[in-house]
Amino acid sequence: MSKFIQTDGRHRTLEGWPLIFTILTVLSVLVGGTVEFLPLVLMESNIPTISTVTPYTPLELTGRDIYIREGCVSCHSQMIRPFRDELERYGDYSKPGESIYERPFLWGSKRTGPDLARVGGKYPDLWHVRHMENPRSTSPSSLMPKYDWLLSRDLDLQSVPAKMKALRSLGTPYTDTEIAGAIDDASAQAAHVARNVESSGGPTGLASKEIVAVVAYLQRLGTDLK
Ligand code: HEC
Repeated sequence: MSKFIQTDGRHRTLEGWPLIFTILTVLSVLVGGTVEFLPLVLMESNIPTISTVTPYTPLELTGRDIYIREGCVSCHSQMIRPFRDELERYGDYSKPGESIYERPFLWGSKRTGPDLARVGGKYPDLWHVRHMENPRSTSPSSLMPKYDWLLSRDLDLQSVPAKMKALRSLGTPYTDTEIAGAIDDASAQAAHVARNVESSGGPTGLASKEIVAVVAYLQRLGTDLK
């Protein structure tokens, strides 16, 4: 055993030269660090992209910001883990490629309420309107707070183009045409959601209210893979 333990080899000599030893240590850490770090910078993306995953529409983006403003992320995660109980309850587990346009990401770390990563299409638009207005009306024992002001607060679409430009500078591929037409596009989608709600017997006049943006956002979640 003792022949494997060098007590006075070259290493011992090196250790006796503190300055040189420090310089050599720093050099080797630098080389090792660079070798590990370079691929991350040089590769365009180390996340497998999914061709059907597209950026949010202007209205969905607005709804997402309201979701952030209202703190929904403090009770809802958007990240299905690859465990059997989660797959059976929520659907297919979340793929990294589904989150490439999530800035900031809303994976969350707490589930007072259920995961929302695949809630899109689970309920009709009207269900979401009623649920936001008063969660107890659709889920009798719910402890989720009311967000009834979303039905009366006016939707602000003026800042959408600026938000899209900011996201584009971070890599979200919005085109000039999409940004220029963002307000019209959002109004059209809002009118569509409002008509849907009306035609299923829900409240009227919601096209210019924040609720339609939140509904559009929730209905989009997890639908890119379907
Ligand atoms: C205090 C915690 C809490 C907050 C904050 C909260 N929720 Fe919930 N949420 C719940 C609970 C608990 C449920 C399950 C009972 C129910 O359906 O209301 C739920 C259910 C839901 C559901 C139905 C999910 C499903 O699959 O059935 C949606 C959609 C939802 N919440 C959206 C939101 C949105 C949007 C916000 C922010 C505007 C929000 N929640 C804020 C606790 C919360």
